[in-house]
Amino acid sequence: MSKKVIVIGGGPGGYVAAIRAAQLGAEVQIVEAENLGGVCLNVGCIPTKAMIHVAEGYESALHSSALGLKIGSVEVEWPKVLSYKGKIVDRLVKGVEGLLKANKVTIHRGRAELKDSRTVVVNGKTLSADAIILATGSDPAKINFPGADLPGVIDSTGALSLPERPKSMAILGGGVIGIEFASMYSAFGAKVTVIEMLPDIMAGIDSEIVAAVRGDIVRKGVNVLTNAKLTGAKQNGALLDVSYEVGGEVKSVTVEKLLVAVGRRPRTQNIGLEAVGVNTERGRILVDANFQTNVPGVYAIGDCSSPIMLAHVASAQGVAAVEHALGHKAAYFGNIIPACIYTTPEVASVGMTEDKLKTAGIAYKKGVFQLAGNGKSLIEADGVGMVKILAGQKHGEILGVHIYGPRATDLITEAALAMRLEATVDELISTIHAHPTVGEAMAEAALAVDGIAIHWPPTGKR
Ligand code: NAI
Repeated sequence: MSKKVIVIGGGPGGYVAAIRAAQLGAEVQIVEAENLGGVCLNVGCIPTKAMIHVAEGYESALHSSALGLKIGSVEVEWPKVLSYKGKIVDRLVKGVEGLLKANKVTIHRGRAELKDSRTVVVNGKTLSADAIILATGSDPAKINFPGADLPGVIDSTGALSLPERPKSMAILGGGVIGIEFASMYSAFGAKVTVIEMLPDIMAGIDSEIVAAVRGDIVRKGVNVLTNAKLTGAKQNGALLDVSYEVGGEVKSVTVEKLLVAVGRRPRTQNIGLEAVGVNTERGRILVDANFQTNVPGVYAIGDCSSPIMLAHVASAQGVAAVEHALGHKAAYFGNIIPACIYTTPEVASVGMTEDKLKTAGIAYKKGVFQLAGNGKSLIEADGVGMVKILAGQKHGEILGVHIYGPRATDLITEAALAMRLEATVDELISTIHAHPTVGEAMAEAALAVDGIAIHWPPTGKR
């Protein structure tokens, strides 16, 4: 008899887990309280990238005369931008529903609550299974400050459906969400101010890359304040006076919106965890290496349990969890996780940063290739950016790759695969890279590790 699996949550963790379980012959039910696709498809990855795509198109149209194009006046028709974004989201959400149905997964609409380790209640109906996968996701973190409840104070969900294109915006938090929105709304013509409490933005990203991105967004007009503390927001007519403290001085900026992007919190309230005795820590569900909680048969994947809140991590964990639950051997490589930030151009990284290698005392060598030396990058992004490879001092194994440049988010997969296969710098070099591509810069950065990049003058390393 086939095993029964219930998945709670239809985001990229949950729906992928459901499909994988169905592929393995299980009888699968999925419960979703809102829209299939979760935050990622509905109010996260996909709609932001759709709007960033439009912002980039707008920016290039504004600068089209340099390409020899005469476009005339370029205008943003905001309601149409929102409907373009909406259409992309709708297509993907319908696609997920179609995939689930094609895999014979039963879809329940409503809020699920755990009753015991094998039972879930949805809309008063009791469902039972051999394994339950919790994939309930996360919500934007809220913080308290004077004025936090004013209507102009928004979160990332609100920032994706503003009725009008904002002319000015303050963003609290210079993390992934803060910097993506800063880059996007600045490209759409808004005056953006980022207020970050740490000494730098984009924590966790290689500091050489951060310095390059920060320099570029500041040059484009984004006001980046670091070591800065928000003190409050006050209504000023239709606008907000946002005050902050920096270097011991209190200053303020007047803006249409204040976007709060200070992290996300696991969504684990009111799902019956206490009733079943599932262990949590500060709202995060605790799991073992197989994504199983302390209650046998109950698993948790993605943002509700993972400290790394990324859609592709949730999907990979979902696959591993159901494979384990259904008695298969799972392969999850949690130490090789690519991360992407959709600035213009993009940022992508995998593996260790240089700072981390130094702190860990690991002997390494590095190669940096500036994209000014790469033809395709020159065509697509004026040669802005770099590829940086960090490799083991002795054997040349790849320890980290950090990219800032056009197509960085696609290129990083080559680096992730190289690390997964434990490739060395020499193996990257001896892989013939197609020309003309931005990807050639990967091989050049590998050559630069030993000071022998072809398309860059000798650096004296040899
Ligand atoms: P984050 O943790 O990346 O950044 C939050 C930032 O806010 C940090 O720099 C923090 O120091 C700062 N901060 C916190 N409290 C503050 C305060 N009171 N005043 C000033 N600054 C303050 O969180 P973020 O950007 O909200 O993103 C949430 C999650 O969503 C992350 O885990 C991220 O990985 C994920 N995400 C991933 C994306 C991608 O892969 N492209 C896109 C968007 C989100």
